[in-house]
Amino acid sequence: MTLGIIGGTSLFGTKFLEGAEEREVDTKYGTVYLLFTAAHEVVFIPRHGKERNIPPHRINYKANIMAFKELGVEKIIGATSVGSLKRAIKPRSLIVPHDYISLCSIPSFYDDELVHVTPVLDESLRNTIIKVAKDSGMDLVEKGVYFQTVGPRLETKAEVNFIRDYADVVGMSMASEATLATELGLRYASISTVDNYAHGIIAEEELDYEKIVDAASKSMADLEKVLMKLMEVVA
Ligand code: HPA
Repeated sequence: MTLGIIGGTSLFGTKFLEGAEEREVDTKYGTVYLLFTAAHEVVFIPRHGKERNIPPHRINYKANIMAFKELGVEKIIGATSVGSLKRAIKPRSLIVPHDYISLCSIPSFYDDELVHVTPVLDESLRNTIIKVAKDSGMDLVEKGVYFQTVGPRLETKAEVNFIRDYADVVGMSMASEATLATELGLRYASISTVDNYAHGIIAEEELDYEKIVDAASKSMADLEKVLMKLMEVVA
């Protein structure tokens, strides 16, 4: 069974994609650039595109998730970058969210039919990710609520102050992917690199995107290690 991994730009050029074959897959929602690692039967979609320039609010989530479905992928691991809403969840750790909040409009495959799925993150896939990350000695947070914002801007301090009571981390893509996967009957779970404290969590800390990218590239080696093991275990 083929495993799907969808991740950010920091994963490009890592060992995990060595020798992967580039492909373009047409779906009714658009064309998706992806990498296919025949050895492990893993399909990787860089969610920001080949040129790494598609911002979160412009990602063609429907095409991405449909491409997985059309390639016979049944399990998807989303590798995402998040900001921490809790002092105890430290940057450079990894977190495997168990639930999510998305109060803004997100894409759906059901634009012309009355279908209401019950969203879930796949518990068995989550447990596999947790086991692999723990066995690899990672600094891992095993559960947490992911709050999705629209982006591309970061949150205001007031927004962070509001959502911190209800969620543990904040990011811009996981809820959309998890919901669409559920709509297509695919199993989805996510592992996130905690790349910063969200705006205002540490009063004296200035937040800017450059710092987040820098932290994400530092955590990339940890993420790569976990994903490589997962490719053996899950696929
Ligand atoms: N906010 C939203 N998305 C993010 C953040 C953040 O602080 N860090 C990484 N992705």
